[in-house]
Amino acid sequence: MSFVRTETDGAVTTVTIARPDKLNALSAEVLSDLLAAFVAMAESESRPRAVVMTGEGKAFVAGADIAAMAKLEPVQAKRFAEQGHTLGNLLESLPFPVIAAVNGFALGGGCELALACDFIFASETAKFGQPEVKLGVIPGFGGTQRLARRVGVGKARELVYTGDIISAAEALRIGLVNAVLPAAELLSHSLATAKKIAEMGPLAIAAAKRVTLRGEDQALTTANELEATAFASLFGTADQREGMAAFLEKRPAKFSGM
Ligand code: COA
Repeated sequence: MSFVRTETDGAVTTVTIARPDKLNALSAEVLSDLLAAFVAMAESESRPRAVVMTGEGKAFVAGADIAAMAKLEPVQAKRFAEQGHTLGNLLESLPFPVIAAVNGFALGGGCELALACDFIFASETAKFGQPEVKLGVIPGFGGTQRLARRVGVGKARELVYTGDIISAAEALRIGLVNAVLPAAELLSHSLATAKKIAEMGPLAIAAAKRVTLRGEDQALTTANELEATAFASLFGTADQREGMAAFLEKRPAKFSGM
């Protein structure tokens, strides 16, 4: 049985983490199911052009599985952290965006999973936090790094050191999430955004994802060189010719991803 469900509608795939009795806590099995689902999508002939990831029930993900972690020795803990990092790195390396639709608790590994997505939409009922210090540990799936990059190191330290759980409104205020929606509108808003992205040139979206991500760790001049190279690489593609021809011919563009 898989802890992950996928549903595809045209070029948009929805991924639902489905372990609601444990608030979708990330055990090694759940991580492995998520990895398998995203690898399958990346390798598929009919790859999605955008993905929405959400959780079943009242949580997005309430953290890494504490019952499983309680028994780990350092070597196993390293392996578990590496599994979380493999998933985060995979999400970032995918040539299509993954939008986190955070429907409830996104704590610990859940907040880290959402941060590894391209951006986050939250329901009014969502809660965010990195409460690992309350368990005597620290975030292990990239939280200390991606949270600092998203909201600034001072705010990230405050959240990581206090373990405070914050509301969706506060997450919006500090720039952790892009928008807060009534619970009933979270999925439709996320899917509408994914659909809009899916109508753009997929090579351009992949390049924009790669450059915004890789540029973050570089000096501005190096990052701008990355941008110029990626910009140039899109010229001569069928999508660039189609996009510009469609504008000049006053018709909608139809992108092939070639
Ligand atoms: N790991 C393993 N199991 C978890 C879990 C986690 N991170 N979070 C929740 N669960 C389990 C609970 O143990 C409980 O299982 P049970 O019914 O077999 O006892 C079930 O999910 C429901 O959780 P419960 O605590 O009863 O729900 P709640 O609504 O009262 O509280 C939370 C919700 C999110 C406040 C609470 O579950 C919590 O604090 N979870 C841990 C958060 C955390 O520290 N995450 C970081 C981990 S690194």
